[in-house]
Amino acid sequence: NKGHYEHYMQKEIHEQPESLTTTMRGRLIRGGSSKSKSVLLGGLKDHLKTIRRSRRIVFIGCGTSYNAALAARPIFEELSGIPVTMEIASDLLDREGPIYREDTAVFVSQSGETADTLLALQYALENGALCVGVTNTASSAIARNTHCGVHINAGAEIGVASTKAYTSQIVVMAMLSLAIGGDTISTKARREAIIDGLYDLPNKVREVLELDQEMKDLANLLIAEQSLLVFGRGYNYATALEGALKVKEVALMHSEGILAGEMKHGPLALVDESLPIVVIATRDACFSKQQSVIQQLHARRGRLIVLCSEGDAASVCPGKSCRTIEVPQVEDCLQPVINVVPLQLLAYHLTVLRGFNVDQPRNLAKSVTTQ
Ligand code: M6R
Repeated sequence: NKGHYEHYMQKEIHEQPESLTTTMRGRLIRGGSSKSKSVLLGGLKDHLKTIRRSRRIVFIGCGTSYNAALAARPIFEELSGIPVTMEIASDLLDREGPIYREDTAVFVSQSGETADTLLALQYALENGALCVGVTNTASSAIARNTHCGVHINAGAEIGVASTKAYTSQIVVMAMLSLAIGGDTISTKARREAIIDGLYDLPNKVREVLELDQEMKDLANLLIAEQSLLVFGRGYNYATALEGALKVKEVALMHSEGILAGEMKHGPLALVDESLPIVVIATRDACFSKQQSVIQQLHARRGRLIVLCSEGDAASVCPGKSCRTIEVPQVEDCLQPVINVVPLQLLAYHLTVLRGFNVDQPRNLAKSVTTQ
C-alpha cells in the first residue's frame, strides 16, 4: 500500500524517521541504576565474547548492503579495535579469498536471499568463521543459516532501489559496533555521544526530508545530463558510492561515486565546466581536506554541488560559485544516514522527471537470487 505516495521508493524514503525508530526500539538503554548508556542486541549476546576475540571482522554484501557496511566500517574499527575488511560477495567467491576460523564474517543483506551473499555464507561456514547476519527478513536463508544476527526491522521494502533498509543497516551496524566495543572508560564519552545521536536521529532525518522540493529543483537542472560524479571520503565515501548507485539504478544516468583522496590519481581529468559534481563536505575530521578538494575542482571550473553542514553554505564555496545543500549535523559516524537522504531524493525526482520506472528499474530485480 503506497498510501498517499505515488511510488514505493518515495514512500520508503519518507518513512525513514519511522523505520529508524523501529530499528532502534528496545535496543538502546539509557539511565537505569548505573545511569550508563548501552546497547542491547538480543540475537548477539551469547556471541559477543567470541566476536571480541576474533582476529578480523569481514563485512560481506552486494550493492547497497555492501555500501551500508562500508559506511559503518570506520566506527567499527574505532570502537572494536579489530581490523575490518570489506568483501563484495561475488568477488570473494571469484577469488576464493582467505577466510579463517578466527574471523567473524558479517553478512549484510536486506532480502537475506541474495545468491552471491548466500554462497559466500556457505563458503565462510565451510572455512569455520563465526557468521553473523544483518538482514531485514527474519525467515530468510541468510538469517536462518548464520550462527547469530540482528534483524534490522525496517519493515517491508518494495521499491527495487534500497533506501530505508540502507539507513537501518547503518544504524544496526553502529549499534553492533557499540555492543562489540564494550564499556571501557576511554571510550565512554564517545559511546554516549553516539547513543544520544541515535536517539535523536529520526528527528534529524525528518528535518533533512524537508529538502524534498530543493532536490526536485536540482533534479530539474540535471534532467538532461549524461553523467554525475559524487565525491566523498571517510565516513561518507560510502555515501558517494550509494548516492551514485541510486542515480544510475533508477534515473538511468551514468553516475560514479569517487573517493576524494583518489581525485588526483585519475578522476580530475574528467573535470570541466560541463560535468556536474556533488561533493560531500559535512563537518568531520576530513572537512579541511574536502575544502581543499572543492578549491581544486573549482580551479578546473567544475560545476559543483556541495553537500555541507547547516550554516556552512556561505563558506564552503569559493566566491559563491557553487550550489549548496545544507543538512543537519549529527555525530560524525551517523552523518552518512543524514547525507544519503538528499541523494535518494535527487535520484527519485530525476527518475520521475526523466520518465523512467521508479519502483521497477529495467533489467533489475528486488532480490537477486541467481549468480
Ligand atoms: O537484498 P540484498 O541487500 O542482499 O540485495 C543486495 C543488492 O542486490 C541490492 O542492495 C541492490 O544493490 C539494490 N537494488 C540497490 O538499490
